[in-house]
Amino acid sequence: MKNLFQVLSLFVLAAFALSSCTPAQQTDLSELNLIPIPCKIEAGNGYFEIDNQTKIILDNQNSELGEVAQMLIKHLCVATGFDFVIENKSARNSKNSILFQLNDDKELGREGYDIDVNPKQISINSNTPEGAFRAIQTLRQLLPAEIEKSEFVEKEWKVPSLSIRDYPRFEHRGAMLDVSRHFFGVEDVKRFIDFLAAYKMNKFHMHLSDDQGWRIEIKSWPKLTSIGGQTQVGGGYGGYYTQNEYTEIVNYAHKRYITLIPEIDMPGHTNAALASYPELNEDGIATELYTGTTVGFSTLATRKEITYKFVDDVIRELAELTPGPYIHIGGDESLVTEKDDYIYFIDRVQDIVLSYGKTMVGWDEIAHANLKPNAIAQFWAHKENAILAAEKKGKVIFSPAQNIYLDMKYDSTTQLGLSWAGYTEVMESYDWDPASLIPDFDESNIYGVESPLWSETIETMSDIEYMVFPRLPGIAEIAWSKPELRDWDTYKYRLSAHKDRFEAMNINYYNSPQIP
Ligand code: ACM
Repeated sequence: MKNLFQVLSLFVLAAFALSSCTPAQQTDLSELNLIPIPCKIEAGNGYFEIDNQTKIILDNQNSELGEVAQMLIKHLCVATGFDFVIENKSARNSKNSILFQLNDDKELGREGYDIDVNPKQISINSNTPEGAFRAIQTLRQLLPAEIEKSEFVEKEWKVPSLSIRDYPRFEHRGAMLDVSRHFFGVEDVKRFIDFLAAYKMNKFHMHLSDDQGWRIEIKSWPKLTSIGGQTQVGGGYGGYYTQNEYTEIVNYAHKRYITLIPEIDMPGHTNAALASYPELNEDGIATELYTGTTVGFSTLATRKEITYKFVDDVIRELAELTPGPYIHIGGDESLVTEKDDYIYFIDRVQDIVLSYGKTMVGWDEIAHANLKPNAIAQFWAHKENAILAAEKKGKVIFSPAQNIYLDMKYDSTTQLGLSWAGYTEVMESYDWDPASLIPDFDESNIYGVESPLWSETIETMSDIEYMVFPRLPGIAEIAWSKPELRDWDTYKYRLSAHKDRFEAMNINYYNSPQIP
């Protein structure tokens, strides 16, 4: 009897010794590769494994938080093949769970979040469901890249133990897609929005009209689309969004906490409208439809009253369709509009935008007009205009063409794209900071960062992907992360690790020689 007891105790002791010899390993933070880099990360020990028993728990009765949890399930269920159930409150400390909690923590603001991972639980804390949605994007990146595949993958789905506290630097973080020079259908646009969401961007700017095509149905001016929407660069059929399709895009973006900013470019870049309605022309004669790529040759008749009836109708319909607070009125490169006429036009259009309760956004040239406080100028080319807009108490979005125009070629061998602002390799698009780009420009006037993709040479989703990736993640990091945490020499390794994710998502990315 005694012997048996001794043997048993030895066995227990040995088992205890063995287990304490192999403590849970500390997370190696250098292997995380998160983009945008979070404000603070602390390593924990061990890992949490998502399996078929993992529960999603909501600590608050909040239907919007429930929808965010559903979005997480959508990201997890395909590759893992697991069925996830959502439970409310009851099982707060239950092991093997992903817990969502809403808190009130000033530092986190509207979009910030904490993630705590330990072997028992992943907890996500935020002030809002929006913050929880941003956290989910981080959680995706903490999982193996195969989580992004649209098929089942046999794998251990481990998340390293850690604590993250994270919130954005700038309010406005976005990208623009030009659907005028070439038209892209609703499904392509949704995929573009998915890219923005994955890197925590929160604004999607649609360039809906230009010389080559009018892309949004306006019921009071139907020829804008029946004539002006028919062509595109190169002469093929263009297309347009019905109001229902536009609403579908708005809603898709909204579910991902992305605000859609519609742009009607005026008074230049208006040939598609001028070809559709003769009365918008100074001489009352409709222009020919245009399928080339020259800029700066068209203008609305700025001193004709019918022009303001037209603008009012367009902005009224667009404002009704657009829940977000912004209407973008273009205003760039109006090279055949007299300066007095230009200012008169922008002033009147600003009043129209305000009359529908919206905030006016325009390219940096609008700084020459009599901007009312809170107007937003989008700096793309002229630093003096950014300064002027700030002097007029306008906020400024930074979209410097030399740094972050996604249609600029990477180098002289890039087949797609243009090069008028120079070549923009991945490093050049990342290694700059908005706060030091314009000497003495006060950072408090910077509303954020947005990278445009113009589509003169971009015809397919695959073309879009090639120009967007891998530059977009870096631009998202400029807009989200603290500048002191960013540097190219470490970023390039983090970005390199995202190639597996691009491949899992079937993204046609540019394999830059700058990325190890
Ligand atoms: C622009 O690139 N014309 C804003």
